[in-house]
Amino acid sequence: MAVPARLRADADKVSADMTGAGLGSRALFPELETRVYANHASLSPPSQAVIDAVSACLSQYARDGMGCYAIEVERRERLRARLAGLIGAPPRDLALVANTTAGVLAVALGIPWQRGDRILVFDGEFPTNITPWQQAARREGLELVWMSADDFRTDRAGALQQLEDHLREGIRLVAVSAVQFTTGQRMPLETIGELCRRHDCELFVDAIQAMGVVPLDVEACAIDYLTCGSHKWLMGPEGTGCFYAREEVAARLEPNVAGWLSHEDPFAFLTRAPNELRYDRPLVQSARMVESGTPHTLAAAGLEASVGLIDAIGVEPIYEHVQAWHDALEAGLVERGFASARMAEMEGRSGILSVRATDAAAGPAWSRALAEYGIASASPDGWLRLSPHWPNHLDEAGAVLAAIDEILAKGGPPLP
Ligand SMILES: Cc1ncc(COP(=O)(O)O)c(C=O)c1O
Repeated sequence: MAVPARLRADADKVSADMTGAGLGSRALFPELETRVYANHASLSPPSQAVIDAVSACLSQYARDGMGCYAIEVERRERLRARLAGLIGAPPRDLALVANTTAGVLAVALGIPWQRGDRILVFDGEFPTNITPWQQAARREGLELVWMSADDFRTDRAGALQQLEDHLREGIRLVAVSAVQFTTGQRMPLETIGELCRRHDCELFVDAIQAMGVVPLDVEACAIDYLTCGSHKWLMGPEGTGCFYAREEVAARLEPNVAGWLSHEDPFAFLTRAPNELRYDRPLVQSARMVESGTPHTLAAAGLEASVGLIDAIGVEPIYEHVQAWHDALEAGLVERGFASARMAEMEGRSGILSVRATDAAAGPAWSRALAEYGIASASPDGWLRLSPHWPNHLDEAGAVLAAIDEILAKGGPPLP
C-alpha cells in the first residue's frame, strides 16, 4: 500500500520525539501524581511520548480516515522489527497480538496434539499461562504435569533435577513465565531451554514480566514460543502485545485461530483488480498467522513510542538501574523485619522486589498503607511487590523507608 508524502512526514515527526527519556527521570511523566510509582509489574502509566503518539495517530485518522491505513501497516512492520530486536528474534517470526493470553491460546489451540501428550506447567504462575493449557487438555485429552515454580527459587539445582526427571518421562511442552509475577524470581530459562532441547520438548515462555526490563534472547534460551503484553515493562497501552514462534514450530501450527488477515496477500481483493476476492489463498505459515483481524492501531502507536524509549536507553542499563533501586531499598526492608524473596544470584533477579511482612497476611494492608503515602506497589498472593522501571529515581528508596517507619510508628498497617 502506498503512503502519501504528507502522512509520512507526520509520522516521522512523532516517532522522532524521544527527548526527555533517561534513567531516573520523570520528565516524560508530567501528569503522574503518585510520588513513587513502583508498580510497573501491574501497569505502566503512559509517558508523554506514548500519549503524543496515540493522539497523533487518532488525529491522523480524524483527518484522513482510511487514507492513513497504509502508514499504520508500515508502523506495524517497524514495531514487529523493534520487538523482535528486544528478544533477539528475526522479525518474520514475530506477530502483534491483543494480549499475552492471545499468544498462549494460539499455541494451546494450534499444536497438533496427540491424545495423552503431557504439558508441564508451574504452580504459582499467573493464570494466563495455565487456563489455556487446561482447556487444551480438556479438549484434546492431554495431561498436565505440575511443578512448583517457587522450588526454582528456594532450591534451583533440585528443581532442575526434578524437571529433567519429568522430561525423561516424556513431556511435549513446558509452559513457563520468564519471571514469576509474585516473587520476581527470574527462571533459569537458558538451562530449561537446553534441557527441553535435549529431551525433544518444546518451550513456551510468558515474557510479560521480563520483556523491556530483563535481557532476553530466544536463541540463547532455545525458546520455541514467546508471548508478551504491552502494558507492563514494555510501557505501552493495554490491548496489544507480541507473539513469537520459531520458524520450524510455527510451520507445524494448525490455523485454528486464523482469520482474514492470516492469508497471504490479504489486502489484494481490496486494492487490486476484480477477481482477487478468493478464499483459497494460502495461510501464512508463521507466527503472523495469529494476526487474524483488524488490530488495535492506537495501542500499536503507543507501544512503538514506549519501545523506542526502551531501545534508546537500552535494556541492560535499565536492568542495572532497577537493580540499583532494589539494592537501595532491600536491606532497609529486611532491617525492618520483612523477608525478601530476591535471589542472591544475579541471574535469578528481575524488575520485581517482593518482600513478605512478618505476618504473611499483611501484604495487601502494607500496599494500601503505602498508597496513603503516595507509593504505588502491589500485593499479589500476599507479597508486597515493588516494581520500578527506568523513570524511577534511586532516591525513592529513602521515601519508601520513611513511609514504612511512619506506618510502623503508628502500630503497623491496619489489617482488614
Ligand atoms: C506473568 C503474567 N502473565 C500474564 C499476565 C496478563 O496476561 P494478559 O496480557 O493476557 O492479560 C500477567 C499480569 O497481568 C502476568 O503477571
